[in-house]
Amino acid sequence: SSDCDLSGLWRNELGSLMEIHDVNEAGEFSGEYLTAVTATSNCIQNSPLKGAQHHTKAETSPVFGFTVNWEFSNSTTVFVGQCFMDARGNETLKTTWLLREEVGSLGDDWGATRVGTNDFTRKQNRER
Ligand code: BTN
Repeated sequence: SSDCDLSGLWRNELGSLMEIHDVNEAGEFSGEYLTAVTATSNCIQNSPLKGAQHHTKAETSPVFGFTVNWEFSNSTTVFVGQCFMDARGNETLKTTWLLREEVGSLGDDWGATRVGTNDFTRKQNRER
C-alpha cells in the first residue's frame, strides 16, 4: 500500500511546516518549506523543496530524501529520512539534516555545515 505517502502537510518539533505535493510514479516530489527558525538574521520566507521517495508499493515505511533551497539565505539543507506508521495509523517522518551555509573563504569551510534531526507529524490529513 502507499500508507506512508509523503504528500500533504507536515510539522516538525521546531514548528516548521512543509507541504509536499503529489509524489509521482518515479517517487519524485516537490513542495514548500516554511522554517520556524533560521541561522541568519534574515526575514524567513517560504522556500521550495525537491526530493524523491522509494515507492515500492509493498513498503509501508519508505526511505526518502529532499533538498530545501532557501529563498532568504545562501544556504541549502538536505534531509534524509524514513516514514513510520504506528498502530493507530499516525505517521512520523524521522529525518536527519545537513545545513550548509556559504562562507567567505576556504579557511572557514570547517564550520560551514550543521547537522541535526527533525521529527515530522501530519498537520492535517490529506484527502483520500
Ligand atoms: C537558514 O537559516 O539559512 C535557512 C533556514 C534553515 C532552517 C533549518 S533547516 C534544519 C532545521 N529544521 C528546520 O525546520 N529548520 C532548521
